[in-house]
Amino acid sequence: MPPDRMLSVVTAVGDRYTRALRFFRSSRPDPGAGPADLRLRIAERRVEADEVVSLRLVRPDGGPLPAWQPGCHLDVTLPSSRRRQYSLCGDPADRRAYRIAVRRLSTGGGGSREIHRLTAGETVTVRGPRNAFPFVAEGPLLLIAGGIGITPVLPMAREGARRGLDWRLVYTGRTRASMSFLGELERLGDRAFIRPDDEYGVPSVDDLLAGAAAGGSVYCCGPAPMLALVRAGFRATGARSLHFERFSPPPVVDGRPLDVELRRSGGVLRVPADRSVLSVVRDARPNVAYSCQQGFCGTCRARVLPGSDPVDHRDRRLTDAQRAAGDMLICVSRVHGDRLVLDL
Ligand code: FES
Repeated sequence: MPPDRMLSVVTAVGDRYTRALRFFRSSRPDPGAGPADLRLRIAERRVEADEVVSLRLVRPDGGPLPAWQPGCHLDVTLPSSRRRQYSLCGDPADRRAYRIAVRRLSTGGGGSREIHRLTAGETVTVRGPRNAFPFVAEGPLLLIAGGIGITPVLPMAREGARRGLDWRLVYTGRTRASMSFLGELERLGDRAFIRPDDEYGVPSVDDLLAGAAAGGSVYCCGPAPMLALVRAGFRATGARSLHFERFSPPPVVDGRPLDVELRRSGGVLRVPADRSVLSVVRDARPNVAYSCQQGFCGTCRARVLPGSDPVDHRDRRLTDAQRAAGDMLICVSRVHGDRLVLDL
């Protein structure tokens, strides 16, 4: 089942890699002391585009909400108790309301269908905001969004306009009817280029990156083929840093095959080098909990038992204390060796 929405990777080249990563680490909240759950009322449900609805969320008492910055998302607990992450796409200056927008997926995407069934007046539980896609505008700024990838990028464009930054946006989609928030983008002026495929053709790497300036920053959110194009063409632009948010699990890098024993059920599963432990466990146990599949949300946490090789922690969530206690996020982490024993 494909995810409804995935969380981010921050990447860059050369010396900017270290600096961007350091910023990311120092700015993320301590997961052990994360924000508390909030029960919010849906004040408005709007159809923003084909298969896209937005929800405007407020506190039932009308009080102010925790502050957020462009790039932040909410963890939303759905009526089924599944938890999914959605970017905040409203205005950070509006402390009375959050806005999320969700595209209904045609395959999988049970979370997106649940969101689309919600109506004004209902309540949802959210946690956050958290920021996995921090906006560090340095130098000329190129924003690239594909489809529902506009959700984290729209507040960045608004912030660029508010601060008088040198920014450009390329926003692509199949058709205008499938693209959200066109009116809001047009009100930001001619720095936003709305580029439907049926009017301009499917974008090439040059179409996407033509506005990347030497020494500038590129922020990109969209489908996997778009991210692949941007990553492939980025080095030739002379821009200093690339930051992107992906919608799918990252490929396994430097993976080695291993056996995972599910101690409580007694089974042993073979995990190939190019698959995550979670994906293999899900084949055998479809009800295992997961959400982001990128080592961020913590949903897939499992307890490692004696008999395992040392864990190769690859997540961005667990504290040192949680790791020392034997916790592991099986969507991204593996072992230094070939044997993993889990309390599953
Ligand atoms: S599913 Fe989110 S951390 Fe593993």
